[in-house]
Amino acid sequence: MTNILITEFMNEESVKTLKKNFNVKYDKNLFQNEKKIKEEISNFEAIIVRNKTQLQKTVLDEAIKLKFVGRLGVGLDNIDKEYCDKKNIHIQIASGINADSVAEYVMGSSLHLIKNITLFNYETKKGMWPRSSFNSRELKEKIFGLIGFGATGKKVCKIAQSFGAKVITYDPYVDKKLENEFNLKFLPFDDVISNSDIISIHVPLNNETKNLINTNAFKKMSKKPILINTSRGSIVNEEDLINAYKNKVISGFALDVFESEPIEEKFYSKIDETFNCIITPHISGVTEESNKKISEFITNKLINFFN
Ligand SMILES: NC(=O)c1ccc[n+]([C@@H]2O[C@H](COP(=O)([O-])OP(=O)(O)OC[C@H]3O[C@@H](n4cnc5c(N)ncnc54)[C@H](O)[C@@H]3O)[C@@H](O)[C@H]2O)c1
Repeated sequence: MTNILITEFMNEESVKTLKKNFNVKYDKNLFQNEKKIKEEISNFEAIIVRNKTQLQKTVLDEAIKLKFVGRLGVGLDNIDKEYCDKKNIHIQIASGINADSVAEYVMGSSLHLIKNITLFNYETKKGMWPRSSFNSRELKEKIFGLIGFGATGKKVCKIAQSFGAKVITYDPYVDKKLENEFNLKFLPFDDVISNSDIISIHVPLNNETKNLINTNAFKKMSKKPILINTSRGSIVNEEDLINAYKNKVISGFALDVFESEPIEEKFYSKIDETFNCIITPHISGVTEESNKKISEFITNKLINFFN
């Protein structure tokens, strides 16, 4: 019988379905123990991971039976795709399935931050009545800049437009015909970041996007935008981000992803309750609904693959 290893959390119903068809080892914390994964992976034909399990060459070299990697989400920065291709290991991502979840998070944070709700909320909870301490602005007619126009960028675009925002986008890899279909403008990177009131990042982490938002980029942000990053931590330089906020180059930020996860003290100690910011533990794509849909999708793909 085919052996399946699951190293991160997965919807329990899907685990049960897999157990009906395969020998399954499910340990949602195993991603923390790379040594153990390396020792055991030679027994498995398939592995199911999220973004924490490192499937790099040293681990893949031990994976002598491995034929299938199921990725519960998108983004392959934890998997050596080239080496998998070379070893004829099929990688199955769950493209676009958590895009609704991420898009809702982006819109929720945009509204919170443009209205300074985090700051009003904090002070009111302390018994203050800060009605005129902070500005509150509207999303309507603001410029919403998207970096990356894939599955999530498209969802964010539609919702932002329904709030009356205008969308501009940088993505050199998509068909420019989408401009008419989505009623937006594709512009060069510098133009998007310099003209936007809100900037939201929706690109994979790779050599081109690593450190994309650094001091150099912040200098071009002329409208004191709000910056939202749900993609991968290393796309935004965290030290440069804090400096940009302190120097009032940006007026707020939401981060769901970090250079180091779990978040490290050297970063969170720089943030206090006076910051107009939202930070969350890589949950923008994880809802009850998306967890179920993604787990079912990968389960079906895996069953089909081995049939
Ligand atoms: N925080 C979370 O829970 C969560 C959930 C889902 C996705 N993500 C991250 O968000 C990223 C985007 O997700 P998606 O579903 O929209 O992916 P996607 O693959 O559908 O879209 C990515 C888009 O980025 C574009 N792109 C690639 N390189 C670029 C570059 N250098 N400059 C501009 N555009 C570029 C591509 O052309 C594509 O249109 C993923 O790669 C993943 O890392 C995070």
